[in-house]
Amino acid sequence: MDASPAHADVAVLGGGPAGYVAALTAARRGARVVLIERERLGGTCLNIGCIPTKALATSVDLLLRAREASSFGVSISGAAIDLPGLMAYKQSTVDELVAGVHQLMRSRRVDVIQGTGRLTSPGSLLVEDGTGHREVAADRIILAPGSVTADASIEGLDLPGVMTSTDALNIKAIPPRLVILGAGVIGLEFACIYEALGSQVTVIEMAPTVLVGATDETVAKRLQLLLRRRGLTLHTSTTVQRIVQNATSLAVHAKSATGELVVDADRVLVAVGRRPNTRSMGFEAVGLHIDKDALTVDEQMATNIPGIWAIGDAVGGWMLAHRAMVEGRVAGENVTGGSRKVDYRSTPSVIFTRPEVASVGLTEAQASAQFGQVKTTQFPFSANPKARILKETDGFVRLVCEASGRILGVHILGPHATDLIAEGALAVQLGATADDLAWTTHGHPTLPEAVLEAALGFRGETIHMNTR
Ligand code: NAI
Repeated sequence: MDASPAHADVAVLGGGPAGYVAALTAARRGARVVLIERERLGGTCLNIGCIPTKALATSVDLLLRAREASSFGVSISGAAIDLPGLMAYKQSTVDELVAGVHQLMRSRRVDVIQGTGRLTSPGSLLVEDGTGHREVAADRIILAPGSVTADASIEGLDLPGVMTSTDALNIKAIPPRLVILGAGVIGLEFACIYEALGSQVTVIEMAPTVLVGATDETVAKRLQLLLRRRGLTLHTSTTVQRIVQNATSLAVHAKSATGELVVDADRVLVAVGRRPNTRSMGFEAVGLHIDKDALTVDEQMATNIPGIWAIGDAVGGWMLAHRAMVEGRVAGENVTGGSRKVDYRSTPSVIFTRPEVASVGLTEAQASAQFGQVKTTQFPFSANPKARILKETDGFVRLVCEASGRILGVHILGPHATDLIAEGALAVQLGATADDLAWTTHGHPTLPEAVLEAALGFRGETIHMNTR
């Protein structure tokens, strides 16, 4: 490592979606920026999270479509998973995108330093790469060190055959029986991938429903039903306590109100949450305020120490790459003279299950608690012509509105829900009403017409379904 100190206007610790976007934003606004990353640019999302899982989900969708091809009048025989080919496609997609981030850094003249950074004082970091260390001095520092797998009090997590989500992205054989601990976002996305790959999947969740906090309860309950109907085993209100190695398999022991449950598995995937990665980097020693591992920040992403900002998973809350990127843009502006406040109102949650789930704004329960009486309106994909063409009719679009019609939340279960939610995000951000959506002309035949019809339902005026 080059031992000479590096000087910059802005130093960013962590090159995930929060950090690299902050670095690009600050550089575009004229700052000399240094970015410190210990692994690969792109962070969890690009390397071991959003991108590789969505690549796998894309391949299994293709497989399932190919198997259904005859019902579309297309003959495809022998469609099957080629595991090495699947892994190669996933990895090459990730590698291309990582290379793209490097290219962006070069084009904005951001100096990327490979190594593990530690805060030594406000304005100074020490970076080590195994061969030596180097000081980085910068008046303004943005901390974006991301998150790590949460510590779980379950015995047997170190047994061979027990996987993290990172391991589950790199398998050499498809497990005949997979048990997944946790029916949060990670647990359910992998459940749908492995089910399509041919595993017999069992998901064990301690909460009463899946996807707690990530979507409206009606959506979570309907998804639960669809998954069970497809043959996936789902135990809710059941807490996993230990995993035991038997002669040829793993036994997952869990407890529910009705007694003890033991499920045999070939592999076990642990998806019981993540925590902010804020330990052992000198944060507390310099006086940064940390609450339950999360760095405390204000609306401008500034910490309690002048000259230090923090963004992304490290500040806690919903760990979403798109939220992290917004925070990166906010911090990138504010370290270069801006005074931008972060606005989370239109942050969607996009979940790549089968069918997909997407939500923005308030759930019905949250809206009722905040606004008293609210009105919901729902339209099923079974009455949407494009969904019929696609033969993907499970699910619905649900709007949560104030009595005036202002849209407070949009919740979608169904085909391309993760794309369709963009219209909902815009509606929430602009304070649009159901009438605004209902009088926006939507192309025909398209899936967004389901959003239009749900909006028409606010006044009982749906066209393709009789709601009165
Ligand atoms: P999560 O917090 O969403 O879900 C973990 C689940 O495990 C919870 O429902 C919890 O009740 C359950 N659990 C905990 N201990 C348990 C036990 N002993 N037995 C049974 N169940 C237990 O965490 P997850 O899924 O690991 O995701 C971590 C973060 O990554 C989240 O913030 C999530 O939003 C984010 N993420 C987002 C994605 C997306 O937006 N598409 C994709 C993947 C992750």
